[in-house]
Amino acid sequence: MRIAKTPVEMREVLAPQRGRKTIALVPTMGCLHEGHLSLIRKARTLADLVVVSIYVNPMQFGPNEDMDAYPRTVDADVAACEAEGVNYIFHPEGLYPEDGAKVTLAVTELADCLCGKHRPGHFDGVATVVNILFNIVQPDVAVFGEKDWQQLAIIRCMVSDLHMPVEIIGEPTVREADGLAMSSRNRYMTANERNVSRWIHASLQVMNDACRGGETQVSTLLARGRNCLEQHGIVPEYMEIREADSLASIERLNGTPARAFVAAKIGNARLIDNIALETSALERT
Ligand code: PAF
Repeated sequence: MRIAKTPVEMREVLAPQRGRKTIALVPTMGCLHEGHLSLIRKARTLADLVVVSIYVNPMQFGPNEDMDAYPRTVDADVAACEAEGVNYIFHPEGLYPEDGAKVTLAVTELADCLCGKHRPGHFDGVATVVNILFNIVQPDVAVFGEKDWQQLAIIRCMVSDLHMPVEIIGEPTVREADGLAMSSRNRYMTANERNVSRWIHASLQVMNDACRGGETQVSTLLARGRNCLEQHGIVPEYMEIREADSLASIERLNGTPARAFVAAKIGNARLIDNIALETSALERT
């Protein structure tokens, strides 16, 4: 496994492989956990060579967010990548000009809801850095986690709108035994907060259970989910049900794939999660 530290070095080591081998990219901000490892394992099935990028992207953090506190565990990340058979790590110190980027990408409607509404500029930062990574690595395929569903939807849309020659693959969320979605930010929680955090996923399950029981009214489903959070002292930043692909808001489930989304702060950890709502009962009627 080779570690490239600059965009030039990354391009140079990949140059002899281009056209001969297919390349999969797994973009990360490091602090790798089982969720990232599942992306790497998927990437290995999709291409001859796997590149994992590790870069804590300043452009996607707001001024009062956890950019400085974001966990950096590069030695452990390198060991994990080696063990998973990764071919290259791209670990640049910086990806923007020293005097700041003067050209960036702007995400429109898809960033107006959910996390985008609460983290202004976040998805512009994500789209810009993913575009930079795609330009440097030029992967055939890139793998992202479904835990960041809005991010995945935006990247799919970016690739389509900008005619980028890369296939985007989404991988299911990897969860702890009690359902908590794996995240680098989970380590911010105390033992007590960690215990409470399982109700985030449980609240989504409550909605899905109601949905499977035949409830189609979004306001009723959300009331059930919010009630579950409230009972455990969790105040959500948002809890919403939206169409899975367009992220359009809906009032009633009508057979179009829909997902339930939640974000909440537990102690210092801002946690997000989402699940598909199973509309099988609906389809039977
Ligand atoms: O999902 C992440 O870890 C980041 O948003 C990404 C895609 C690596 C861009 O910095």
